[in-house]
Amino acid sequence: MPKLNENYLNLKESYLFSEIAHRTAAYAEKNPEKGAQIIRLGIGDVTRPLGKIVLNALHEGVDAMASSETFKGYGPEQGYEATRNAITAYYKKNGVEVEPDAVFVSDGAKSDTGNITDMFGHDNVILIPDPVYPVYVDTNIMCGNQVTYIAGNAGNNFLPMPDADQPADIIYLCSPNNPTGACYNKKQLKEWVDYALANDAIILFDSAYEAFISDPELPRSIFAVEGAKKCAIEFCSLSKTAGFTGTRCGYTIVPKELKFLSSAGTEMSLNAMWNRRQCTKFNGASYIVQKGAEAVFSEEGIKECQENIQYYKNNAKVIADTLTKLNIRFFGGINSPYIWFQCPNGMDSWTCFDYLLENIQVVGTPGAGFGENGVNFFRLTSFGNYEKTVEAMERFTKLFG
Ligand code: MLT
Repeated sequence: MPKLNENYLNLKESYLFSEIAHRTAAYAEKNPEKGAQIIRLGIGDVTRPLGKIVLNALHEGVDAMASSETFKGYGPEQGYEATRNAITAYYKKNGVEVEPDAVFVSDGAKSDTGNITDMFGHDNVILIPDPVYPVYVDTNIMCGNQVTYIAGNAGNNFLPMPDADQPADIIYLCSPNNPTGACYNKKQLKEWVDYALANDAIILFDSAYEAFISDPELPRSIFAVEGAKKCAIEFCSLSKTAGFTGTRCGYTIVPKELKFLSSAGTEMSLNAMWNRRQCTKFNGASYIVQKGAEAVFSEEGIKECQENIQYYKNNAKVIADTLTKLNIRFFGGINSPYIWFQCPNGMDSWTCFDYLLENIQVVGTPGAGFGENGVNFFRLTSFGNYEKTVEAMERFTKLFG
C-alpha cells in the first residue's frame, strides 16, 4: 500500500472557490427561479474578451503551427526570448530594471506560487499574512510546513508590517492584496525589504494585481525598492492584467543576486535552482500563448488591456459608492479590483454569504476563506459585467438601505 502524503488531512475539505461554486450550484438547483437571477461577484474571474492586438498575435501563433518552416515543438522551459524581453521592457517602462534571464514565463502565478515550495526545506519560519490568497497557506500545509500568521486588520489597514522581534525565513506578501485590495507604499515595502535583509529571509511577492495601481506613488513591483533583488522573488500573472484567466500565462522573476548558503556553507543561487526545477518539471508555456503574452506588453497591447482594467475599475467604483452610501465600512477598490467590506449587522462571513444568496441572489466570497481575520469581512470582485454589477448594488441598497 502506498504511504500517502497525510499532510492533505490537515487541509480544509475543499478549496475556497470550489466550496463557493458548490454552495451556489446547490442553491440554484433547489431554487431554479431565483437561481436564474444569481449575480456572481465571487471568484476574481475576468469577463471582458481579449483585445484585438492580443487576439491577432494568438492567431499568428496558431498559423505558425501550420507550416513546417515556422512550426514550434518544445520551447525553452524559461520562456521564449521575445516574451522575456517584452516583460523586461514592461518593467523598464515602470522604472524597474530586470534582466531577461531572471524572468521565467509560466502558465500562471497560481502554479508558481504553489510550486515555489520545491526550493525550500521544511523547518523554516514562514510568515503569511492573514487574510490572504489561500494558495500560500494550502501549499505549505501540503508539504507539512508550519505557518506563522501575521495579522492584517482594520487597525493596520490590512497591511501588516514587520515585527523586529519576530524571526522569519520566508515571508509571503501580496500587494495590491487579494482579498483586501490594500496596497503597500514604497516606504512600507522598504521596511519589509530591510527586515528581510536583516533576517537573511526571502520575500515571496505576489504582484498579480499590479496593473490596477493607478496611484504613481505606489510601487508596482517589489524590485522598485532598493535591495529587493537580494531578498525577493516576484510572481506576476497576465490573468488580471490582460484577461488571461482562461488563456493561462504568468511569470516569475528570480534575480541572479538572490543567493543563500546551504547548511554546509555552499552558496546556492535561487535563479539556478528555479531554472533546474522548471527544466525538470515544466516544458514551458505554449508558443501560441507566449505570442499573445508578448503582444500584451507592446505599447498598443498595454493600452488595450488598460481599457478593460478601466472597465473593471469603474465597476469597483459602483460598488464602493454604494457601500459608502449605505455606511458599510470597506477597504480596497481603488488600486485593486477587490472590495473588502465589513459584514453588516454583525454577521459572520459565511452567514453573510447565505444571507446575500438567499435574499438578493448575489454571490461574493466570505472573508473567512482567506483566514481568521476575515471572519467578519466579505469580498466582492469588480470583474463582472457593468450592468450586472449595477443591478447587484441596487439589490444591496434595497436590502441594507
Ligand atoms: C480570486 O478570486 O481570488 C482569484 O481569482 C484566484 C486566483 O487568481 O487564482
